Amino acid sequence: MKNNYHESVMVKEVIKSLHINKSSQIIDATLGTGGHSQAIINLGGKVLGIERDPKILAIAKDRLKETGKFVLENFTNIDKIAKENNFSKVTGILLDLGVSNIHLKEDNRGFSFSDSSQALDMRLNPNSQGVKASDLLNVLDKTQLTNLFAKIVNFANAKKIAERIVNVRPITTVGELNLCLEDLPHKRSLNPATLPMLALRIAVNSELENLEEVLPKAFNLLENGGRLLVITFHSGEERIVKDFFKGKGEVVLPSQEEIFNNQKSRSAKLYILEKKL
Ligand SMILES: C[S@@+](CC[C@H](N)C(=O)[O-])C[C@H]1O[C@@H](n2cnc3c(N)ncnc32)[C@H](O)[C@@H]1O
Repeated sequence: MKNNYHESVMVKEVIKSLHINKSSQIIDATLGTGGHSQAIINLGGKVLGIERDPKILAIAKDRLKETGKFVLENFTNIDKIAKENNFSKVTGILLDLGVSNIHLKEDNRGFSFSDSSQALDMRLNPNSQGVKASDLLNVLDKTQLTNLFAKIVNFANAKKIAERIVNVRPITTVGELNLCLEDLPHKRSLNPATLPMLALRIAVNSELENLEEVLPKAFNLLENGGRLLVITFHSGEERIVKDFFKGKGEVVLPSQEEIFNNQKSRSAKLYILEKKL
């Protein structure tokens, strides 16, 4: 992070694909701290931003002031939100999936494996979501936990993690979960907690279900020639986007320069689908 904002990925590529001009109407469905929106607004585009996390939305609003409409919502309600805000000629929609660097580095909701003392919460909107990460770990049975982790982790590891959790719970902190994730076979470039923590976050926030729900709604909102852009960060997201695109559209990868300057961009893939009636 070069400032107090999330470092946006593939901004140049996003701007190019959205063909921004003064008549552009763009829905930034994952506003975050507003990096992509800022770039769109600077080029004269009109932005409707959606963000599920009230803390992150506050940062974006402070950054972008009154230059667009920015709402606290789940992007699964994109159709209702567009209607309420008179966004009827939508020329582009961006979904930059996952969480922001602010969640991983500066938050205290247990998103990152690196602060053992934090409570395992992981809810993007603690005011509207009832179930915390620790609730899932303490309530689900062994099979349900295996399935939760197997969405991201290989099945053998998922099963072992579930067994360990069931044997030691209750688990309330990141450190207690970390103890269940040690000594499992994993890619050397990754911390052993990275993928299991990702699986847990995805489950807490229903991230894959939300993505499945938003794609058709978003595509329907586009006017003819409009573009749907989705930036994915892992295979669970990619699978859903590819299924929806059905071999159409294109995929763009970050430049070597961006990967060198921003580690997080190394797993990013930008999927672009144009609506042609
Ligand atoms: C990778 S960040 C987006 C960063 C942003 N493009 C930027 O340039 O600053 C993803 C954001 O989407 C938000 N988010 C995740 N799921 C969401 C959902 N279902 N509805 C709305 N926002 C969501 C997260 O809280 C996070 O702030």
